[in-house]
Amino acid sequence: MNRIFSGVQPTGNLHLGNYLGAIRNFVTLQDDYESIFCVVDMHAITVWQNPEELRRHTREVTAAYLAAGIDPTQSIIFNQSQVAAHAELAWIFNCVARIGWLNRMTQFKEKAGKHKENASAGLYVYPNLMAADILVYKATHVPVGEDQKQHLELARDIAQKFNNDFGRDFFPLTEPLILGSATRVMSLRDGTRKMSKSEASDMSRINMTDDADAIAQKVRKAKTDTEAMPGLEALDDSGRVSEAARKARPEAFNLIGIYAALADQSLPDVLSEFAGQPFSGFKKALTDLAVEKLGPIGAEMKRLMANPDHVDAVLRDGGERARALAMPILKEVYDLVGFLRP
Ligand code: TYM
Repeated sequence: MNRIFSGVQPTGNLHLGNYLGAIRNFVTLQDDYESIFCVVDMHAITVWQNPEELRRHTREVTAAYLAAGIDPTQSIIFNQSQVAAHAELAWIFNCVARIGWLNRMTQFKEKAGKHKENASAGLYVYPNLMAADILVYKATHVPVGEDQKQHLELARDIAQKFNNDFGRDFFPLTEPLILGSATRVMSLRDGTRKMSKSEASDMSRINMTDDADAIAQKVRKAKTDTEAMPGLEALDDSGRVSEAARKARPEAFNLIGIYAALADQSLPDVLSEFAGQPFSGFKKALTDLAVEKLGPIGAEMKRLMANPDHVDAVLRDGGERARALAMPILKEVYDLVGFLRP
């Protein structure tokens, strides 16, 4: 059976993009793959995290996994720092990956901002730890949103170089699974920017724990333009929104993509249903849909967070199972590299 690995950073403000781009797909994939879902706390500290908040956010991501429908008896759910093999393999990958490869990573450039010399060294080697997360389990597939594509290409480069260096087809060349019609959910305030946990304005995103009133207010205030809803003319030959149409009306097509994903409908179906109508009616329908789909998940997350014993037990059990899978693979790596294990 193929194996998937994926992770979410416990940095707070889990949002609709995390849900539609990643977590929702984890739930459907777990039936077809041996699945490992991680809360990547070691990645989170590449930028400063208050320790108390980090613990709370680690439980929050775990609660989101559970509330969305990941079954912890079938899949493995754990937090990264429990399994030291991630850090150990990451060190080896620090020595495999080339500085030139890391210099091309757009996410480092975005996150480090203008003063790169002030960024942590961890932020720079972030993609090497991510490759270690995946390859310490020899995962074959990784479900993610579009923004992780470049990191996964780097993971393949690392696997390939390791295999070449040590003369063995040891690591798989992992495939990304970028699924659904909302693989890049944009900000509600600016359709050219990604919806993000770190955006200062809470109005830019729908959080997984938002209640019905908050969702209604955010959708009502979401930026749109003055024209009516677009129709099928916006699609290109392959049935996707054409670049030109998206560029002209980024906010409109973002909301339409979110609607299609939440409703499990195709884009052509959504476009034909609402074509020519004013945005106000569509926003009402989107609010109802978002409340219907996210409301129960947010409520269950809050219930799980109120008494975290269950969440902690899930992480503990997952940590043990993850360690049991990772250790034999790490041992083989140590032997290949030439580390003496007397
Ligand atoms: P993170 O925590 O930023 O995001 C978690 C998942 O949510 C997806 N995502 C989005 N999808 C659609 N629209 C958006 N606006 C949006 N924002 C986020 C991300 O693509 C991701 O799938 N580096 C990873 C965490 C990680 C990881 C891994 C992932 C660490 N190790 C190994 C896969 C495999 C990250 O920062 O995700």
